[in-house]
Amino acid sequence: MLALDTTDATRSQRLKAATRDSHGALDARIMAGDIFASRAHFARFLRVQFRFHRDVDALYGNAALDALLPDLGERRRLNQVAQDLQDLEQALPAPLSAPLSADLPLAAALGWLYVAEGSNLGGTVLYKMAGKLGLDAGFGARHLAAHPDGAARHWRSFTAALDSVPLTAEQEQQVIDAADAAFRSVHAHVEQEFGQ
Ligand code: HEM
Repeated sequence: MLALDTTDATRSQRLKAATRDSHGALDARIMAGDIFASRAHFARFLRVQFRFHRDVDALYGNAALDALLPDLGERRRLNQVAQDLQDLEQALPAPLSAPLSADLPLAAALGWLYVAEGSNLGGTVLYKMAGKLGLDAGFGARHLAAHPDGAARHWRSFTAALDSVPLTAEQEQQVIDAADAAFRSVHAHVEQEFGQ
């Protein structure tokens, strides 16, 4: 279990601090996989994204979460990842485990959604790099394209809502544990896809 930061940072700032090491390790692992060496390499990354977004997809359809978080239904990216794979003539990966239930407890759902939504920020960096492979918002890199409002603004509207959900101290820890579990799960998808 990760330690809970007791400063008066916002919830999203605490999440960022608590997951800095797991995010750094994941970034490094993905970039070491040389995902922009070819479209075939990039497809491995797409399969990781597909598995991750399939894991979280049901949360985007949860009415209670939708009431708390802005435009939640429009934020889901599973279909875009699937289209990116289809653009590259790749089969959709078979499930390795059951996806998350739409009824996941609120705190855990917020932690997973923090990771899924935050990954759009790094996505803007990856989107530019995908251009070298001839991929863009219309072909192969749809799910990495920034929201029309701008990725940073779209993210801030999410974190503002995330930060204002009232939670108990116990739930605060559950959000952090869930975000950590989300990063570990993506890392496991990477190991599965990229090999040791
Ligand atoms: C599927 C894999 C990934 C996940 C789940 C993920 C997750 C996240 C999250 C949650 C944030 C928000 C941090 C915050 O609270 O501000 C973030 C930001 C960011 N990520 Fe990633 N990320 C992934 C892959 C990558 C990769 C491969 C790179 C590039 C090497 C990258 C670079 C960044 C950058 C530059 C930011 C914004 C700068 C910052 O605030 O740290 N990410 N990512």
